[in-house]
Amino acid sequence: MQPSAALNRIKPSPTLAITSRVFELKRAGVDVIGLGAGEPDFDTPDHVKEAGIAAIRANKTRYTDVDGTPELKEAVMAKFSRDNGLDYDRSQVTVNVGGKQTLFNAMVATVNVGDEVIIPAPYWVSYPDVVLFAGGTPVIAQAGAEQGYKLTPDQLEAAITPRTKWVILNSPSNPTGAGYSRAELRALGDVLVRHPHVWIFADDMYEHIVYDDFEFATIAQVCPELYERTLTVNGCSKAYAMTGWRIGFAGGAAWLIKAMGKLQSQSTSNPCSIAQAAAVAALNGDQSFLKQRAIAFQSRRDLVVGMLNQTNGMVCPRPDGAFYVYPSFPTLIGKRTPGGAIIEDDGALATYLLDDAKVAVVQGAAFGLSPAMRISYATSESVLTEACERIQRACAALV
Ligand SMILES: Cc1ncc(COP(=O)(O)O)c(C=O)c1O
Repeated sequence: MQPSAALNRIKPSPTLAITSRVFELKRAGVDVIGLGAGEPDFDTPDHVKEAGIAAIRANKTRYTDVDGTPELKEAVMAKFSRDNGLDYDRSQVTVNVGGKQTLFNAMVATVNVGDEVIIPAPYWVSYPDVVLFAGGTPVIAQAGAEQGYKLTPDQLEAAITPRTKWVILNSPSNPTGAGYSRAELRALGDVLVRHPHVWIFADDMYEHIVYDDFEFATIAQVCPELYERTLTVNGCSKAYAMTGWRIGFAGGAAWLIKAMGKLQSQSTSNPCSIAQAAAVAALNGDQSFLKQRAIAFQSRRDLVVGMLNQTNGMVCPRPDGAFYVYPSFPTLIGKRTPGGAIIEDDGALATYLLDDAKVAVVQGAAFGLSPAMRISYATSESVLTEACERIQRACAALV
């Protein structure tokens, strides 16, 4: 027996691979600092944990409606209305096993062989692979640091063809932290209004982790003309530090939501009943800690951006949100390590940093834009300081 053609089109998640490598090294007693994983170091808030425990005690341990309990759908609708000014009814919202399943459901439910999906790079690692799995063709639009890691309206216009099915927008972005302003979303929207066959997958997973005076907005809100063909995607993983609970959700056209539910009914069925009860508490409960956590992330961002910009060969833009930085280092390519290895690409630099400096980062190649690396700063300031010092020493040792 051989793996299927669909499976052969995709590769394992490179970020999860780095995370398992760090676990392995730590188990072997190596003093490694893992800056590869995309999850907050904060704990799930107590009231959310208590809601999960109460759900177990109340025997909410059985199958639920496939794409979300009525209580959670109501909470999701209230969230979209409160935070984004978007009104959806129950038939327009879906709850899934993490935002990753939301992506998977949307693509597999709609993409046919030969359909194109526009993905600005650098991108979250799962976008191209899920499109490939669905039989579609990822159309990558390079959005480098010189354009703030953001897709421009001209690029979008140039990438659209009669086969385009979706464009994926992710703001603030994993891996760069770049966020689209209202004006930028409006300008992209003006292009999309002219192409009614293109749907928009708006991934707002990092909505609540934004800094300085950046104001989060989402495209269906800024461009109401696009509401009917936008899937607005969000989840509990990042904002509520609930990565392990696996709750993602989306709002969009009723037929699309129904199609996604049909697929889910033949794959995972409902998301965990206990996690759904906890998600109701997260979405309906006190939201004030979100701001406090964003303030903590902001000072970590400032620390890391400052230290990386003082590192030999590194240029580190200052992100608007999320908990990643995406420094580039063109002048380090071609240099030699103390052990004699040549830094041929960003993969080689990531390997060198792991082997010599014992700091795990993810090479830019995984996100489609090189030479760069993604550093997750969702850890304490003391660990970040130590990690950046190690990176500084390692880069200074390159000749
Ligand atoms: C941009 C983006 N969207 C969606 C997700 C999916 O999150 P989860 O499946 O953990 O809910 C992630 C997780 O890394 C992400 O970075």
